[in-house]
Amino acid sequence: MASDSNVAIPSKIKAWVYAERGNPVDVLKLDSEVRVPEIKEDEVLVKVVAAALNPVDFKRALGFFKDIDSPPPIVPGYDVAGVVVKIGDQVKKFKVGDEVYGDIIEKAVDHPKQHGTLAEYTAVEERLLALKPKNLSFVEAASLPLAIETAYEGLERTGFSPGKSILVLGGAGGVGSLLIQLAKEVFGASRVAATSSTGKLDLLKSLGADLAIDYTKENFEDLQEKFDVVYDTVGQSERAVRAVKEGGSVLTIAGAATPPAVRFILTSAGSVLEKLNPFLESQKIKPLIDPKGTFPFSKVLEAFSYLQTGRVTGKIVIHPIP
Ligand SMILES: NC(=O)c1ccc[n+]([C@@H]2O[C@H](COP(=O)([O-])OP(=O)(O)OC[C@H]3O[C@@H](n4cnc5c(N)ncnc54)[C@H](OP(=O)(O)O)[C@@H]3O)[C@@H](O)[C@H]2O)c1
Repeated sequence: MASDSNVAIPSKIKAWVYAERGNPVDVLKLDSEVRVPEIKEDEVLVKVVAAALNPVDFKRALGFFKDIDSPPPIVPGYDVAGVVVKIGDQVKKFKVGDEVYGDIIEKAVDHPKQHGTLAEYTAVEERLLALKPKNLSFVEAASLPLAIETAYEGLERTGFSPGKSILVLGGAGGVGSLLIQLAKEVFGASRVAATSSTGKLDLLKSLGADLAIDYTKENFEDLQEKFDVVYDTVGQSERAVRAVKEGGSVLTIAGAATPPAVRFILTSAGSVLEKLNPFLESQKIKPLIDPKGTFPFSKVLEAFSYLQTGRVTGKIVIHPIP
């Protein structure tokens, strides 16, 4: 028997849903009659307290990977922070009442689950979750999983080791802002460079960048300095390969990869969050939420519009959830 909390879990919940693909602002509807998801034996049911948006949410809705996507209806949302209210029979790590966070979709674009995190409750495999760092709010915790796991796993994929230098393309975004911090604080980078527009250069420095490059004024590939690793979060791999040292590595998470650049797609894992929790608790790594980036559940469409401008600094988080 699955065990649950004393708090009654409703059978019908509120969630944002689209029944057909399209631009989220056109197709997403608030539905108050969505069935609460059933949990499997390795899953927990989470009362969602905060949920973050990622570009993959609108790309999925627009049908970027519809050939390998699950069919609508779809409740978007990968990132969650919330409270465990029910656990499956095989669940070992968590108990009812635990405060958790995670990216609930293991393979981002390969048959992702239909019921995401833009809902009052969501079901998630325990291996995708970690305990929320105690010093972080639910909003801060929700902002992290997909972006920080992508930054961390991507850096691992490049074989990053202490003393190497890195150029981060897109340093002010959700992934980039964490990449700068992880490269410095976790991976021991000797030198971190990053790109952004003029108004965000100071932010890059405050995150730990030694060199902040204004892409409106300078082409990073024309710099004399070359880097051991170039991590492209923008979709500029063709240019990125001209900024790497001979024998170095170029990773891209956006768009096609021009060889020798390689394309990386995240596989979500709670174990990465567990590894990073000490860095979050000691504030060596800090979440970055856009100053205009917290939207209540009723304003999810506005949140998508803002995300789709491509100008967000750090992350967008949906909170409170009713
Ligand atoms: N493959 C994977 O597993 C994976 C995982 C996560 C994300 N992604 C993809 O990676 C990309 C980045 O994700 P994200 O969440 O970091 O996006 P995001 O937060 O929406 O990125 C917004 C940031 O990008 C910056 N930016 C835009 N154009 C730029 C340019 N030409 N040069 C430098 N910076 C630029 C903007 O800064 P300015 O305003 O200064 O331009 C803004 O701060 C998206 O395409 C996403 O789908 C892939």
